[in-house]
Order: sequence, then C-alpha cells, then structure tokens
Amino acid sequence: MSTHINAAKGVIAESILLPGDPLRAKFIAENFLENARCYNEVRGMLGFTGTYRGVPVSVQGIGMGMPSMGIYSWELINDYGVRNLIRVGTAGSFHEDIHVRDIVVGVSASLDSSYTNAFDLPGIYAPGAGYDLLVKAGKASEKTGIAFHAGNIVSTDVFYDQREDWWKRWAAMNVMAVEMEAAALYTNAARCKANALAMVTISDHLVTGEETTSEEREKTFTDMMTLALETLIA
Ligand code: HPA
Repeated sequence: MSTHINAAKGVIAESILLPGDPLRAKFIAENFLENARCYNEVRGMLGFTGTYRGVPVSVQGIGMGMPSMGIYSWELINDYGVRNLIRVGTAGSFHEDIHVRDIVVGVSASLDSSYTNAFDLPGIYAPGAGYDLLVKAGKASEKTGIAFHAGNIVSTDVFYDQREDWWKRWAAMNVMAVEMEAAALYTNAARCKANALAMVTISDHLVTGEETTSEEREKTFTDMMTLALETLIA
C-alpha cells in the first residue's frame, strides 16, 4: 500500500478518472464500468477498478483542493504505475462565451497557489495538459458528438475569496473557468512523466449568476463521463 491508498500492487488500472467526491467515484464505477471492485476505503476516499468497453479503467476520489489532488495523484503514479489521469469535476466560470453545463478542458492551468513552489524552479512554471490526452479528447468528441471548450483555466486555493471581483483579472486574460485541482495534477504528471487532463463542467457562473438544476447536472455529468472514458480508450 501507499501512504494514503490501501491497495495491492497491480489492482489499479493504468488509466484512471479522478472525481473529487468519493461517492461520485462509486456512482461512476457502478454506472459506467463493468465488473467494478472497490480497492480503497482509507479516509473514505473510495477507489474502484473495472473495465470500460473491455479496457481496464479505475476511478479514484481525490477530495478537494491541490494538497489533496497532489497526494493522490502522486501516489497513483509513483506507487501504482498509473499513466493516464483525467480529473472530472465541476468549475465556476466568469467567461462571457462559456455557460453553465458547458464542458471545459484545461489546456493549461494557472494557479494562485504555492503548490509549484515546492518544485523549486528557477522561474514561473506553467502547468499544462498532456498533449496525447488532449488529442484523444478531440477524437472522443468527434466520435460522441459531445462538444467542449479548450483553454486556460485557473486552480485556486480559496473557494470563498474575499477580494471583490478577483475573477475579473483572470477573465481579462481569457481564462475560462475556476476550479481547485488541475494545476497540481498537471505539475505532478509532468514531474513524474505521466499524462494528465482536467475536464470540468460549469456548475455556476460568477457573472450571470446562472446555476444548474440537479437534472441538468445529471445530464451534463453523463456527457462528461462518456467523453472522459472515450478519451481514455481512444
Ligand atoms: N470556485 C472554485 N471552484 C469551483 C467553483 C468556484 O466558483 N465552482 C465549482 N468549483
């Protein structure tokens, strides 16, 4: 086992989906994978392995925020040999062309966090998606007809930001959405030579105040899961 995952070597697939909510991991395993088995219950952070169209795929809850994503993605890559990691989650948007229920893929992830400082680089690091998975996401979109926006997103450490209009300066840089994990995943994947992608659906809009109903979230969620799984097997 690793420090935070109690699984035997070999039971976690090379390709994995990473939702924040462990119960969402369970839902994905039960509804999108065949023959899924739970391999981890430590801290209630459930993880499952099954198959999707015959290909082994795992799904692991990773919690919220970059520290949590940093821990799980590091151990999955280094202790369990995971190679392809797709974060699936929700994000807020402040971009005028992006609306609630849209899917956004983070080509790159800006951050307001000190996460990358720990890598002690002689400049400012730019966390980016794995090109291979980006191309596969494009293929999966063509195959399924499920569209997505692609661009820069921002990973923040603070959900309840007290600075008025903080998002306006990100919006001015054409940043598409705000979430809390992608930059840590991209940084770890780069450091450990794995492939990573962050895929989010917009759950709330900071400018228009649009929100999603639970039925809309369900439908969008299903689309994003299909897109993510088809990306992993493309
Ligand atoms: N901020 C940060 N993370 C989020 C948001 C948000 O507004 N919405 C969904 N995830």
